[in-house]
Amino acid sequence: MANKQVVSFRLNGKDVDVAVEPRELLVHTLRERLLHTGPHIGCETSHCGACTVDVDGMSVKACTMLTVQCDGAQMLTVEGLEQGGVLHALQEAFHEQHGLQCGFCTPGMLTRAYRLLQENPDPTEDEIRYWISGNLCRCTGYQNIVKAVQAAARKLAAAQPA
Ligand code: FES
Ligand code: FES
Repeated sequence: MANKQVVSFRLNGKDVDVAVEPRELLVHTLRERLLHTGPHIGCETSHCGACTVDVDGMSVKACTMLTVQCDGAQMLTVEGLEQGGVLHALQEAFHEQHGLQCGFCTPGMLTRAYRLLQENPDPTEDEIRYWISGNLCRCTGYQNIVKAVQAAARKLAAAQPA
């Protein structure tokens, strides 16, 4: 294909190089070339947030970023949350608090909540709802997602050395 260019970034702690056309969306590169199919595609208008990943310390909707913009980036997808077979506190809490049903929004919710707790380790309910307002869910009614984020925040705080 004409005009491909090599883009290099760090994905979940591993260096990757991909050759892409300038028009290729990050979500397609992740899913189709790098086989990270956790980030999903729920819309074509940048609303749903199912494609949310973490790029250079920001929650980014990967359907609205070009892969060529990611050269040199540090990237985290839902696949990178678990470490050595141990679920991240957020993953555990979504499970325990029933913060998912079909699971389609969940990878985006998790990466978004991950960034929230990095920036605000003790968010109020209103702050959680505001922070995930770029992430739509058709199944849960959000209530248990909020509970899950609160539970994860408590777990992470309890795990901090005093
Ligand atoms: S796929 Fe809906 S915001 Fe990215
Ligand atoms: S769990 Fe189905 S869309 Fe959120």
